[in-house]
Amino acid sequence: MKILVTGGAGFIGSHVVDGYVRAGHEVLAVDDLSTGKTDNLNSSAPFQQCDILSNEFQQLVDDFRPDIINHHAAQIAVPVSVDDPVDDARRNVLGSVAVFEAARRAGVRKVINVSSGGAMYGEPVTLPCDEAHPVVPESPYGMSKYAAELYLDLYRRLYDLNFTTLRYGNVYGPRQDPHGEAGVIAIFTERMLQGRACAIFGDGEQARDFVYVGDIVRANVQALDRGAGEAFNIGTGQPTTVNEVFAALASAADYGEDAVYEPVRPGEVYRIYLDVEKAARGLDWRPEVSFVEGIEQTVRSFTDADAG
Ligand SMILES: NC(=O)c1ccc[n+]([C@@H]2O[C@H](COP(=O)([O-])OP(=O)(O)OC[C@H]3O[C@@H](n4cnc5c(N)ncnc54)[C@H](O)[C@@H]3O)[C@@H](O)[C@H]2O)c1
Repeated sequence: MKILVTGGAGFIGSHVVDGYVRAGHEVLAVDDLSTGKTDNLNSSAPFQQCDILSNEFQQLVDDFRPDIINHHAAQIAVPVSVDDPVDDARRNVLGSVAVFEAARRAGVRKVINVSSGGAMYGEPVTLPCDEAHPVVPESPYGMSKYAAELYLDLYRRLYDLNFTTLRYGNVYGPRQDPHGEAGVIAIFTERMLQGRACAIFGDGEQARDFVYVGDIVRANVQALDRGAGEAFNIGTGQPTTVNEVFAALASAADYGEDAVYEPVRPGEVYRIYLDVEKAARGLDWRPEVSFVEGIEQTVRSFTDADAG
């Protein structure tokens, strides 16, 4: 298949490009490099630097004629969205509509859209949180990801554009940017390896569904020909607290300092983990990488990157 991946130079998008290339597909990576890095690019997949909101993007889609558009490009930081909701909506809502519109005009078979199970349900009233849970985002970021989902649903009804939406938990693994606002595991890993202090916002008992990026890649492969017109949670189904993350990383990175506790930040939920049974049924997908294994692989990749 011909697959265009937006955000293909980013943390997750670049792993998805790698996964599709490994599976023998012809892949075009598109990214404006606002947070993505050329170091992440796969040498077997061509790359175009392009903003999804630009006119050139439609032209690119028309020229490449993909069977599938896999949409990972986004502004991903919750605090940035709280500070500047207009820019978040421009990039995540208008940007997504531009991608769906380009897909419709070019006759793309399917859009695989990426959303956030961690940010759109708000503070869950039932746990684990399944896809039928009420959507009550606590941040502009959660709202913008959900708005894109609704647009895509409309595109299916209005223009018959097929899609699958993947609602990720908190994704971690090699290549995650430790300097961004998102990604506590990447931030702690880098700081621990450099012997620096790690800040935990709140009491550290807030829990997330931390899912390894390799499992995310497999979900994107499964979604190529499954899950039409549906949204699926993609996580582990297990809660892990930030204190547990700190302890696991400290052990893997041989770090002896205590965490520094700081005030809670607005816009973040306290305790969430996802019900992933729908993905097991509809995508024939289950998470395979344990937390301990994922943490070890992540710390190893950061150590190797430092050595390189
Ligand atoms: N990291 C997580 O835990 C997580 C959780 C849920 C959902 N997601 C979603 O996964 C996707 C990828 O996130 P990530 O963690 O890899 O972040 P990332 O910042 O590494 O990736 C986003 C990529 O999109 C690119 N981009 C941003 N705006 C663009 C634009 N207008 N045009 C073209 N490219 C643009 C960036 O340069 C970057 O490479 C996002 O849609 C994000 O909302 C991530």
